[in-house]
Amino acid sequence: MIPPQDISDKLRTRHADIILRGARVWTPAGPQHSDLVCLHGKIVAFDAADWSADEVVQLAGLDILPGVIDSQVHFRDPGLTHKEDIEAGTRGAVLGGVTAIFEMPNTDPLTLTSVDIDNKLQRAAGHAWCDHAFYVGGSAANAEHLAALEMLPGCAGVKVFMGSSFGALLASEDHVLDDILRCGRRRVAVHAEDDLRLQQRKHLAEQSKDVRSHPHWRDVDSALLATRRIVALARKHQRRLHLLHISSAQEMAFLAAHKERVTIEVLPHHLTMAAPDCYERLGTLAQMNPPIRSAEHREALWQAVRDGLVDVIGSDHAPHTLQEKAASYPHSPSGMPGVQTLLPVMLEHVHAGRLSLQRLVELTSTGPARVFGIQGKGRIALGYDADLTVVDLAARRTISNRWIASISNWTPYDGMQVTGWPVATVLRGQFVVRDEQLTGAPRGAPVQFLECRANA
Ligand code: DOR
Repeated sequence: MIPPQDISDKLRTRHADIILRGARVWTPAGPQHSDLVCLHGKIVAFDAADWSADEVVQLAGLDILPGVIDSQVHFRDPGLTHKEDIEAGTRGAVLGGVTAIFEMPNTDPLTLTSVDIDNKLQRAAGHAWCDHAFYVGGSAANAEHLAALEMLPGCAGVKVFMGSSFGALLASEDHVLDDILRCGRRRVAVHAEDDLRLQQRKHLAEQSKDVRSHPHWRDVDSALLATRRIVALARKHQRRLHLLHISSAQEMAFLAAHKERVTIEVLPHHLTMAAPDCYERLGTLAQMNPPIRSAEHREALWQAVRDGLVDVIGSDHAPHTLQEKAASYPHSPSGMPGVQTLLPVMLEHVHAGRLSLQRLVELTSTGPARVFGIQGKGRIALGYDADLTVVDLAARRTISNRWIASISNWTPYDGMQVTGWPVATVLRGQFVVRDEQLTGAPRGAPVQFLECRANA
């Protein structure tokens, strides 16, 4: 901790830690050519004319975006670290231009108590390359404690699995969901697939043994039914919801009528791949929940992005080893890595004209900050954290498994050519990736939330 006197001396004498020069900066007012002056982890000026600094970095020809916030990752730490851990997961994050992650509770043990949250925060200290927060799982076991748990420093809020996916976390019955929604006030993040319907239809997958049946087993009605149920319950309890990885045209049409209560996430996976092609190309590697659906659904998701219905793009980074994924369907686990490829894949969509860079910034920075009430992040503005994602919009690269930091060591985008690439990542005023290489040491810290108790 730098003594406040030192900071005010530096402000008075206008001596910054670092000045970034020459780039196009994506501010709330739009893109502008300006400097960025950073002191003690914050943005303190846009014009460096009368500033000196320990370091001045020229970034001509590059674009500086607010740091990407990925509000849905599974890092498997503790318990399943043969798939992923916090160090490798966050290393992949920063190499992909991500400066903050929110991690999911289906680890082993599940994240259900303050001890579990504290354990994850301790595991992240000194090992996480980016800032982080951890969801607490909502279940029958801890429902009455959620109002206190969701307020813990470093807690991203409550996550509910309405349908079994990976791991033992499940809250499928209305009376359990009632108990969860009754307790607390923050927005609840929900995986909406109806567990009863999934169980009733599982024979379709078991009989076919063909991964192409995945979107038939876990069909649109399974998702729509759960989405309708949770919205009705949220209305009853006056709770706000964040609907994770919405995958179908029907859910989007339904949710459009509930935007005062509901925010919406979509994934690059669902915006990029489509059935049946992805299953024919990738087999069980493309298996995830909710499933990749047909091109008509993919187009409906893009329409929802264009219409402003969608608030957030998250990766749902859900790594399993290639050996695990090679099990015969439906014994193969669902989930694909994605934290490192979120931005490169979305920059390719920008390059192809499917969305503007301004809209992408909204979905990956401003949106998560607004939806989760994050303090001091999500925009490049005076007084905000200097979390910055530096991209070269002209760089042509091929995504490859070799580039992937994840312990699982693969990506469904292996071989995909993209235009636009993250070349540097700045975390609270310090480079963690520079010239596409990791630099420094892991110094990620817990994300602070407006509605949460402050970190100690
Ligand atoms: O495909 C998925 N995999 N969907 C989820 O909701 C969970 C995830 C996992 O943890 O592997």
